[in-house]
Amino acid sequence: MSDIETGVIYCDDNLWRLSQLPAESIDLAYLDPPFFSNRTYEVIWGDEAERRSFEDRWAGGIEVYVDWMRERLIEIYRVMKATASLYLHCDPSASHYLRVALDGIFGRAAFKSEIIWKRSSAHSDTRQGRRQHGRIHDVILFYSKGSTWTWNPVYQAYDPEYVRHFYRHIEAGSGRRYTLSDITAPGGGDPAKRNPHYSFMGIDRYWRYSRESMDKLVADGRIIQSRPGAVPRQKRYLDEMPGVALQDLWTDIPPVSAQGQERVGYPTQKPVALLRRVLESSTNRGDVVLDAFCGCGTTLVAAESLGRGWVGIDISPTAVQLMQQRLEKMGVTVKVVGLPDTDESLRALKPFEFQNWVIHQMNGAHNPRKTGDGGVDGYSWYLHEPIQVKQLDKVGREIVDTFETAVERSHKKKGYIVAFGFTKGAHDEVARVKRTRGLEIVLKPVAELLKEDRRRRSGILPPQMEPDARPTLWSDDDLPSVAPVRRRRVRQDERQGSRGRAVQAEPHPRVAALRDEYATRGTELRAGDADFSDEGVLDEGPDGPQRRATVQRD
Ligand SMILES: C[S@@+](CC[C@H](N)C(=O)[O-])C[C@H]1O[C@@H](n2cnc3c(N)ncnc32)[C@H](O)[C@@H]1O
Repeated sequence: MSDIETGVIYCDDNLWRLSQLPAESIDLAYLDPPFFSNRTYEVIWGDEAERRSFEDRWAGGIEVYVDWMRERLIEIYRVMKATASLYLHCDPSASHYLRVALDGIFGRAAFKSEIIWKRSSAHSDTRQGRRQHGRIHDVILFYSKGSTWTWNPVYQAYDPEYVRHFYRHIEAGSGRRYTLSDITAPGGGDPAKRNPHYSFMGIDRYWRYSRESMDKLVADGRIIQSRPGAVPRQKRYLDEMPGVALQDLWTDIPPVSAQGQERVGYPTQKPVALLRRVLESSTNRGDVVLDAFCGCGTTLVAAESLGRGWVGIDISPTAVQLMQQRLEKMGVTVKVVGLPDTDESLRALKPFEFQNWVIHQMNGAHNPRKTGDGGVDGYSWYLHEPIQVKQLDKVGREIVDTFETAVERSHKKKGYIVAFGFTKGAHDEVARVKRTRGLEIVLKPVAELLKEDRRRRSGILPPQMEPDARPTLWSDDDLPSVAPVRRRRVRQDERQGSRGRAVQAEPHPRVAALRDEYATRGTELRAGDADFSDEGVLDEGPDGPQRRATVQRD
């Protein structure tokens, strides 16, 4: 068994990173990999390039997916201690394939439970043509590595109906609910049970407890005889019961809601309560928890709050930066390894990751619009000046030209273009725009951001402030499970409920924020004026129409 450094987030492909971790060093692994069923499930920004790259990934079908997972599961098995547990979060489209793969690696006896987590409320999409049951659950496969494993019983609150029915007595004075339970011996006079037989409160019976214990219960007021000659019963208070032992059907943990306090905007974010439950049942204080697909760091947050050590791995720099901020906000010291920190590593990033890196470095907020935004990828911190990001070596005059219009349309006097380099034509164009239109376009080389990043890391510059607006990411519910999303406008008659749907078209928060911003400047935001109308957009997916966190250009 070897020690592993905890409090670390690695930004790497987990296959490689896992191979570097010491064998038998962790007590629990929770894995929430991208699902096979939903190729766009883990899309972060929802832009086309990103979506395509994920869709390509499982092009070879379920076998490709399972092989991809198997090699990672073999590494996970290696780093697990002999008493460690694995929780693999998946969905019904792949859970049976993954279970066979796990049986092959861990052995069939290692399988402990298949947990069904009800992850959303019932869908009613018959009108959208679905001819099967609504899909509202995920599967969590629980395996142990060895024949002994950490197990702490976890209890859930009783069902209110059960309480009303079984704990129907209420004690006068204290108001405590209780039930009356049988104290005669199970098995009666069976010699094998060796139950004591004696006369108690005038009743001859085989009893559950010895006479001394019975006398103590009487002294404590725990025995009730409803009338002379009735068999006495024991008083059991509801508030002394632990609850129902946890079963493998979890319907009491809701998903992270769109307005939920814990929501950080990561599309596949799981609720902390789910992870706390996993960790509470299968780890102890001081144990080490590993999440090799840790997304926005929910497992790490749960582990930290329960006094467990943790190690996180995620391939996405966006995810890593987000979870770093999330943990640091809790006052946790985080070590991050592997974030891109050279020109070369930044060039190698996927376009959306590069864009996210730049916006993060500039403390900006992401533009929630994916298209038709005139090239605005984000807005600077506080002043909301447009930022355009180009993963190019030579940004030329034309790009500055187009961006000039975008800056004007956002009613700002300044904007930023970030790229690896700029041509002389671009610099000349910037000078012309300044001279003729009074607009300042800053050409910011990536090298400058890298320098600032290094200074920040070495403590010369203060750390990143919290972004002033959360990036508008796509939520789980926004993402279609099968069919591609078709986008259309909310029709006036639908809003009035003519198709039996009550659809509210409230202004999108971004529009509301813009409107406020305009109001403080004494002007009014008009539809078309600032690129946004305040009309919501409905997405029609298999789960019915849903409002998406975008607004539509007029
Ligand atoms: C379903 S999400 C996890 C969400 C997480 N449970 C949470 O609550 O935020 C899957 C994550 O796996 C990451 N991922 C995908 N392929 C990976 C790989 N090869 N190595 C490491 N992480 C990977 C994605 O970037 C994504 O953040």
